[in-house]
Amino acid sequence: MVRAAVIGATGYAGAELVRILLSHPYAELAVITSRKYEGIAFSDVYPAMAGMTDLRCERFSEAAIAEAADVVFTALPHRASMSIVPGFVNRGKKVIDLSADFRFKDASLYEAWYETHQAKDLLRTAVYGLSEVYYNDIKCASLIGNPGCYPTSVLLPLLPLVKVPFVDLHDIIADSKSATSGAGRSVNLATQFCEVNEGLKAYKVAEHRHNPEMDEVLSRFSGSSVHITFTPHLVPMTRGILTTIYVGLKEAVSSEDIASRLDLFYRNKPFVRICGPGKLPNTMHVKGTNYCDIGFKIANHTRRLILVSAIDNLVKGAAGQAVQNMNIMFGFPETAGLDQVPFPI
Ligand SMILES: NC(=O)c1ccc[n+]([C@@H]2O[C@H](COP(=O)([O-])OP(=O)(O)OC[C@H]3O[C@@H](n4cnc5c(N)ncnc54)[C@H](OP(=O)(O)O)[C@@H]3O)[C@@H](O)[C@H]2O)c1
Repeated sequence: MVRAAVIGATGYAGAELVRILLSHPYAELAVITSRKYEGIAFSDVYPAMAGMTDLRCERFSEAAIAEAADVVFTALPHRASMSIVPGFVNRGKKVIDLSADFRFKDASLYEAWYETHQAKDLLRTAVYGLSEVYYNDIKCASLIGNPGCYPTSVLLPLLPLVKVPFVDLHDIIADSKSATSGAGRSVNLATQFCEVNEGLKAYKVAEHRHNPEMDEVLSRFSGSSVHITFTPHLVPMTRGILTTIYVGLKEAVSSEDIASRLDLFYRNKPFVRICGPGKLPNTMHVKGTNYCDIGFKIANHTRRLILVSAIDNLVKGAAGQAVQNMNIMFGFPETAGLDQVPFPI
């Protein structure tokens, strides 16, 4: 059994980690922390967890957590993570950070979009935790920068196709719709019920911080400089991201060609499901699961490939992928603790 700690356990991503780790066959949840709920039972913070755990939220203590846990999940806002992660790495712990602090290879890119980085040295060894793509690096990593939710939904459909000659890397537009849990649990006017219910709005157009994260990974993977246009939208749902990607094509291609490239890339990858011909993903079909469903259509009259993906932002977009990375790092079956059957409806 590996002993796990979740720092920031009462936030939405942290609570999802607790949910998944409680039924993990090879992990024992040893410590959970929260400043606001110190001393409070987790099941009092989240009544759905009544009878599931007796754990109480503890005050953060690096020494106590390092003593009690082999793997540390940090589910904190950016900046808060970079101040505590180095301590655990120095103590030889495996760390999986859900914030943006260790996702970038280029510190100046992080600093241009976020702020001054206080642990730049670790960016060299941190591995970007897109499980299906960086599996071999994740196996040997001690620090994972777990991907953002939007980047996961954009990169998984796109990466299998960015090295093929018929794709125009200068003509890619990603349009995402996210549930409001993506913004976290802290009180925020923009995600209050009356501000989102019965509405649909674009936000942070041409300035969302996940855009440079996607560009860096796409550029690194393809070997060319890639900058995509990304527009996020907020929808009145609790969980889920649906992403539609418009890819310029330099020549006509067949559906069979695209399908076989996606199938080959994700062969033996249990959490990526390629939809059959004529079928497209729906956030309902992945809710509460670690699946990323991918479908596509070709609009030959406009020379565009249209890819559509669906994930649960809190699972494949955050906690589920983090646990998948833990499984890979510790040599457990990749699906351990993550084999929930989806809701049929
Ligand atoms: N929500 C998603 O869909 C999603 C998806 C992918 C990645 N992420 C990333 O995961 C991280 C957590 O997101 P979230 O949505 O769970 O946010 P959240 O609901 O706002 O939770 C943040 C947690 O961090 C703690 N915290 C806040 N400020 C802190 C500080 N300065 N020092 C120490 N602890 C602090 C909070 O608890 P206390 O105040 O009680 O300590 C809370 O438990 C973020 O970096 C986010 O970008 C989120």
